[in-house]
Parts: sequence; C-alpha cells; structure tokens
Amino acid sequence: MSDSSEEQTIQKYYDVALELVMKCGPVASEGYEQAKTDYQTKDAFYDFVTVYDKKVEDLLIAGLKKAFPETQFIGEEDTATNKSEPELTDAPTWIIDPIDGTTNFIRRFPNWCISVGLAIRKELVVGIVYIPVVNEMYSAWKGQGAYLNGQRISVSKCTKIKNAVFGAELSLIQYPPIHDKQIKRICKLTSNCSGCRSMGSAAVSLCYVARGSLDCFAVDDLHPWDIAGGALIIREAGGLVQHSKGGEFSILKPDCIAAATPELAKDMIDLINEADELTDFTF
Ligand code: IPD
Ligand code: CA
Ligand code: CA
Repeated sequence: MSDSSEEQTIQKYYDVALELVMKCGPVASEGYEQAKTDYQTKDAFYDFVTVYDKKVEDLLIAGLKKAFPETQFIGEEDTATNKSEPELTDAPTWIIDPIDGTTNFIRRFPNWCISVGLAIRKELVVGIVYIPVVNEMYSAWKGQGAYLNGQRISVSKCTKIKNAVFGAELSLIQYPPIHDKQIKRICKLTSNCSGCRSMGSAAVSLCYVARGSLDCFAVDDLHPWDIAGGALIIREAGGLVQHSKGGEFSILKPDCIAAATPELAKDMIDLINEADELTDFTF
C-alpha cells in the first residue's frame, strides 16, 4: 500500500471510530446518571464491571466489525468473558476499553472514559478517548497531531521532575506481587515532583498529559486497553510514552511512563531505577 493510500485508510478508520465512540457516550452516561449503578466484581476484589461496560463494548465491536470486517479486536470485557489472552498480530486491531475508570463511574466521579486504539502491524495509528461527563473528545491519528474537541493540543514543556505534576496510579497497590514495587516507585516519584494527582483512570491521565495539565504519568501492570488510545494521543501531542525502564513499550504488556519531554522521561526512569533498588521504604 502506498503511503497516501495507507493514510486514507487510517483516516477512514479514525472517522468511523470517532463517530461510534461519540454515539456510545449517552449509552454509558445513562448508567452514570443513575443514583446507584449496579456492578459485579470480576476475578480481583477491586475489579468491577457494570452492564454499561458490556453494552458499550458490544456496540463498538458491532459497529467497527460492520464497517471494517477485516479488522481484529482486543476488548476488555470480551477478553474477561472468554478468559482469553489478548493476541496482537499485524492485522489492523482495535484495542477497546469500554469504560476506563469503572470505579469512578460507579461512584459518580467524572473521570471515566471510553478508550479506543487501533494498531496496524503492531504500531498504534489511531487513538480516541472520550470523557462524556465533561464532553471532552481526545483524538489522534498517526502523523496528524492530537485534538481535544477538534482543537489542537500539546504537552507541556516541563523538563525536570521537580517542576512536574505527576499522575500516579494508586489502584494496583492491593495486588500482592507488585505491592512493594508500586509503593517504592510512587513514594520516590511523588517525593521528587512538585505535585501529584491520581485520576482513577489511566486513559484520562494520559489525555491530561497530552493536554499539558499533567506533565507525566507512570504505570506498570495494566492492560493494552488501558493505554492504547491515550498513548497515541500523547505521542501526537508531542510527548513520549516509553517502557518504564526506557526504550519502546509493549502494547500487550504496557509497563510504561508518559512524559512531556525526553529530559523529564529520563528523570523519571532514573528515579524508577533508584526506587527499584531500595530495600527499605525510607525516602
Ligand atoms: C482501571 C483504570 C485505573 C487503573 C486500574 C484499571 P477499569 O481500569 O485504568 O486507572 O488504576 O487498575 O483497572 O477497570 O476501570 O477499566
Ligand atoms: Ca481500564
Ligand atoms: Ca474498563
């Protein structure tokens, strides 16, 4: 495929996905606006799902399949239901988190979103993250910049962790195998930055880095659907998403940092390495 015909194909994927995600906003919002949203607990005691997660994912998959029968899917709820391991091939693959921030959704915090990424030949080429409560549509396709409701956005110019507002993920600390690593990294990073916020949604946090509200973000041990959409949006907004130890991150196992600038990314990786070497929790 020539460069320009590949570009046109990606634009088509982007246009259709953007419209579909927008249409799913009111479907999910119906659940958010209820005084009490019913939910179930998945395998982990802190992992929740509502009927709206399933509804939105089904709508997205049905709509995208109809428009693009050649594409593959990695969807959070589909993966959970089938107890399957996500597989990423070279085929165009939609990576879907129907509601990222389900705890926020259930408890009526506004930080939850619908997140869709598209990878072709294992490279992210489309990212769409919609936050219905505030009607914020973040979107990007490869090489075309990142947008919030159609207006171009860019990351901050922050180059030093001491000047940075850092987005921390506090929610995986309950998981025993990674508890110590998380505590050490969070303490190290928050002890060295100018401010710290925990949004309760990885995809929302990534968009906050893309628009310059946060300067950086770090998380290990999440899933492809938490990161795929937001990662491309950050890159297209001029920032970086890398492996938390440096180098390229893996879409299937996204242990990563996001940063506005390479200098800030280096500060973060240095601190993460220092944190990982700590044998006690004195900072
Ligand atoms: C969660 C969010 C949250 C992260 C959790 C994830 P979900 O996704 O991304 O930021 O800390 O670990 O499970 O379950 O609401 O889609
Ligand atoms: Ca998620
Ligand atoms: Ca989810």
